[in-house]
Amino acid sequence: MMRKISNSCATTVAVCLVACSALTALVSLLPKAHAADGTLVEKGRYIATAADCLACHTAPGGKPFAGGYPIITPVGTIYSTNITPAPKTGIGDYTKAEFFNAVRLGIGHNGKRLYPAMPYTSYAAVTDDDMEALYAFFRSGVAPVEQENRSGNVRFPFSIRSGMMLWNWLYLDTRTFQPRPGETPQIARGRYLVDHLEHCGTCHTPRTLFMGPASGRSLSGSVVGAWYAPNITTDKIAGIAEWTDSDLRNYLKSGHALNKGQAAGPMAEVVTNSTQLLTSDDIDAIIAYLRDVPAIASSEKRSRTSYEGAGRPEEVARGQINPEDRGWKIFSGSCASCHQAQGQGVNAYPSLTHNSATGSSNARNLVATILTGVERQTGETAVFMPAFGSGALWVNRLSDQDIADVSNFILKTFGNPSVQIDARYVAKRRTELTP
Ligand code: HEC
Ligand code: HEC
Ligand code: HEC
Repeated sequence: MMRKISNSCATTVAVCLVACSALTALVSLLPKAHAADGTLVEKGRYIATAADCLACHTAPGGKPFAGGYPIITPVGTIYSTNITPAPKTGIGDYTKAEFFNAVRLGIGHNGKRLYPAMPYTSYAAVTDDDMEALYAFFRSGVAPVEQENRSGNVRFPFSIRSGMMLWNWLYLDTRTFQPRPGETPQIARGRYLVDHLEHCGTCHTPRTLFMGPASGRSLSGSVVGAWYAPNITTDKIAGIAEWTDSDLRNYLKSGHALNKGQAAGPMAEVVTNSTQLLTSDDIDAIIAYLRDVPAIASSEKRSRTSYEGAGRPEEVARGQINPEDRGWKIFSGSCASCHQAQGQGVNAYPSLTHNSATGSSNARNLVATILTGVERQTGETAVFMPAFGSGALWVNRLSDQDIADVSNFILKTFGNPSVQIDARYVAKRRTELTP
């Protein structure tokens, strides 16, 4: 019995050896087969995450990377395209060179010039290695979806795509990323992420009249549709110098930094699809670089997170404010159940004092949050505030006047009292949220 087993074992081993060495010989003849491709695809997946391709190339509720997400710009609405490997409607027939040119130079199929709503000016510096990995991922890591592209309504003269050649001549720097002399590897990595892959500046850097990034104003704050992407330079008042490393880490990992700010709207998408998934080393590199960017001041005299509700009337505490104040009535009916009567917040509901949305020198993020609510998913945690705008599902819709009144109440009671708005301001923000 014993012999028999060991005999058959020996046979199995021998067969295995022959088979295995034959296999190894065969594999070594093939071009680098699946194992190696797998790691390249995984590397590409991480780069696509850091570059946040998903956020723009997925329509709300749509299939990943199948396009159709509206990007609302001052010159009209541009829809992102299908970048799944589907042969007919996607980029299944793109060669590697065509893919590289689309991502880094903004040149699509048959030389079609892409609008810079696709942030190729940021991606232009992406290294060849990272591009190879990205291409591998979009070939074999993404499910093909046949879905036609939507055409947008870009206004003349911007509707003429070849006009982008002039624009590119002004704003496109095609040099590949190189660490600067004297820059630490960590700061260099952070700069590669912030300025290129993560393209933080497409939202946080102000634009010129021609929609190019304003030179020398990098990351000093900009309008993004109805929203405002604040100044994130090292300026003590206008920037985020006072945010600690752990504030920034919490913000990029979870979208929330206690008594500083929270990520709604486009920034919630950045956190949900991208920054929460970065390695700790990459988050630390981003923070190290943000600490290193030049401070850029603006007209503010006081930091937006420093308002502590000093103007909060005694009556609010006692729940008996001027009953004629419409803003207060709306606040106590629609907001106080979560943000609490004195705006101090509780648990996952943030305080409205020490809050960058209410202390800012403009009311955009306050108004846009009321209109659209907040939806963010990080790890197991879902953060939710209902929308009070036209998309309201769970609560009564608020009119432009209601939103102006409640905003003014919040600004003067908990936030920056020098900012006050009217119904027209809210109406304008609504149009900026509609494609
Ligand atoms: C900020 C939004 C945004 C991000 C982020 C973004 N794209 Fe795009 N992309 C667009 C838009 C909008 C278009 C269509 C532009 C046009 O019609 O001119 C586009 C077009 C493209 C095209 C051309 C497709 C075609 O149909 O010819 C490719 C390829 C592409 N993107 C790949 C990527 C990849 C890969 C990433 C991540 C590395 C990415 N995009 C990230 C907005 C974005
Ligand atoms: C798609 C546009 C967009 C991109 C890309 C983007 N941001 Fe933002 N960011 C915003 C908006 C809008 C806000 C305001 C969000 C709010 O208050 O709800 C914001 C807020 C922030 C804040 C909080 C500032 C404050 O005072 O509340 C930080 C920090 C920040 N972003 C860092 C970054 C970094 C770092 C990147 C790149 C990794 C980045 N952002 C990419 C749009 C963007
Ligand atoms: C059901 C609970 C709930 C109600 C009701 C509610 N909120 Fe919120 N609010 C939240 C949550 C949750 C957040 C996001 C917290 C986070 O991002 O970590 C939030 C965030 C905010 C922010 C910060 C947004 C930003 O971009 O930084 C403001 C301002 C705000 N709410 C104002 C209001 C106002 C005004 C009302 C009433 C019209 C209201 N909220 C009603 C739960 C609520």
